[in-house]
This record gives sequence, structure tokens and C-alpha cells, in this order.
Amino acid sequence: MKPTPEDLFKRNQEWAESKLSKDSQFFSKLSNIQSPKYLWIGCSDSRVPANEIVGMDPGELFVHRNVANVVPHSDANCLAVIQYAVEILGVEHIVVTGHYNCGGIRAALGDADHGQIDNWLAHIKDVIKDNYEEIFDLKDEQERVDRLCELNVIRQVSNVAKTSIIQNAWRNGKSITVHGWVYGLNDGLLRDLKVDISNLEQIHPAFQINS
Ligand code: CO
Repeated sequence: MKPTPEDLFKRNQEWAESKLSKDSQFFSKLSNIQSPKYLWIGCSDSRVPANEIVGMDPGELFVHRNVANVVPHSDANCLAVIQYAVEILGVEHIVVTGHYNCGGIRAALGDADHGQIDNWLAHIKDVIKDNYEEIFDLKDEQERVDRLCELNVIRQVSNVAKTSIIQNAWRNGKSITVHGWVYGLNDGLLRDLKVDISNLEQIHPAFQINS
């Protein structure tokens, strides 16, 4: 039986009570201050619950999720999250986390008509175009999907770092590292793609902004 909305309220009450039973100040402490050190940019997929898979409590992780964890250059929603996280909350780490077997990535690899979402998936098709031979040299479809999941994360890490927001923060002496991770639905584990970007010199000259 799938839970009803009433069930969710019941579960919520039980959750709040269990938190209070361990720490009676749990919510009163949180209501006064939010100071997460991490911004998580991940996929909307219900199997990738950000806080849960990194064992973080409320207050520890600022989160933005969309289909296939994309950071378009001019997406007002995503940019607002990044600006708030960096300039107001003072996050020090921005983690773009993809996941293997991502449905959005799989859809982008095909040529089927999905309606409006194909315009969103075009951001991933850009990554396919730029890595066409590497991806289609892989004979197995699952391998192509999973490699594109990684390549998409790498592109989106770069897109975060290129924003005027992050470049400004670095110029103002803030320490911010943008990380690229991939989560395995099959084993529950995160992999670090080791594509950290943490300074202006790592930005391609075409995107560097100097003030
Ligand atoms: Co996904």
C-alpha cells in the first residue's frame, strides 16, 4: 500500500518526536540559524535522497535538485540557489552529484520525442556532442549511459565554477571548492570523480571575468 498524505503527517509527527527524544533542543537550535557548509546540486530522482546518503542532519546541507543535475549558464533558479548559498550562507563546498543509470541521461542519449523536457535534455546533448566518439565507442548501452552520467557531472562542475558568482567569490578571497561525485543506485556508494575546481586559474580564459 502506498502511503496516503495522512500517513505522511503521521510519519512526520513520529520523526519530530524521535528527534526531540534524542535532543530536546533539536528544533529550537535550528530555527535560529542555518549555516550549512555544503551546497548539493543533484538529480530529482527519488532514489537519491541527498541528506540521507551523506548522513547529514537538517541544517547541514543546502540542496538544489533538478532532472539530471544540470547547471545551465542562465538558469535563474539554479543561479539564485548558488548565489544565496555562497554569498549569504557562506558554503565552502559545492557538490554536483550525478547518479548512475539516470533516466534523464538515458533519455538524452536517445532520439525519442519527450515533449518540452527535450529542451532541458539538450544541455546533456551538448555533452554528448562534445564527447561523441568516446561515448559511442562504448558498445554496451548501459556503459554509455553511465559514462555520460560522469561526463555530465564533469560539465556541470565546470558550469558552476564559470558562474560570475563563484568567480567573484574567489576574487574576494573566499575558499570554495566545486566537486563532482557520482552515486551508485546499486550499492549506495558515492564516487569522487576527482575533478575539483577551486580557483580562477582552472577556468578557461574564454570564461574568465576580470574586475
Ligand atoms: Co537522475
